[in-house]
Amino acid sequence: MNYAVLITLHLFAAFIFVGTVFFEVLMLEGIRKQVPRDAMRSVEQAIGKRARRFMPWVIIVLYGAGIGMAWHYRVVLAHPLDTPFATLLSLKILLALSVLAHFITAMVLSTRGKMKTRHFQAIHVSVFLHMLAIILLAKAMLYVG
Ligand code: HEM
Repeated sequence: MNYAVLITLHLFAAFIFVGTVFFEVLMLEGIRKQVPRDAMRSVEQAIGKRARRFMPWVIIVLYGAGIGMAWHYRVVLAHPLDTPFATLLSLKILLALSVLAHFITAMVLSTRGKMKTRHFQAIHVSVFLHMLAIILLAKAMLYVG
């Protein structure tokens, strides 16, 4: 697929994914103390149900386009320590794989009804920090070396 199409798809999917994570951490976690525990639990379950419906598609587009673009850089990525670009892109991909592991864990816990509030919070904060690092790396790699 054309590189311009891949990066556009990647950016749109990243914007939905990152936007959702930022909303959940900055808004939802921010209102936790003002909302009764049972109501918050219902909201978390409803969000989990909604996320299970559309997030897999966002993930497929995000990672699919990412892999398609990484294929263009396969020669560079074969030597991740040779250039700053290759190092930063490799780090970004590693962090993205870690985000995927978080996402799969959340889906499995949620589907089995084992997602507790403390899991919900820990996964959110960890993915949020991953997102900050991924965005910084994604932009920094274009300006170094
Ligand atoms: C949580 C997952 C991910 C997020 C949030 C994310 C986000 C981004 C963002 C914001 C950019 C900058 C695009 C621009 O400004 O032009 C980018 C670029 C890029 N991403 Fe990702 N990405 C993710 C996963 C991946 C994965 C899994 C791969 C590859 C396996 C990948 C490969 C790339 C490549 C190669 C570029 C460079 C595009 C270029 O400028 O030529 N990404 N990503």
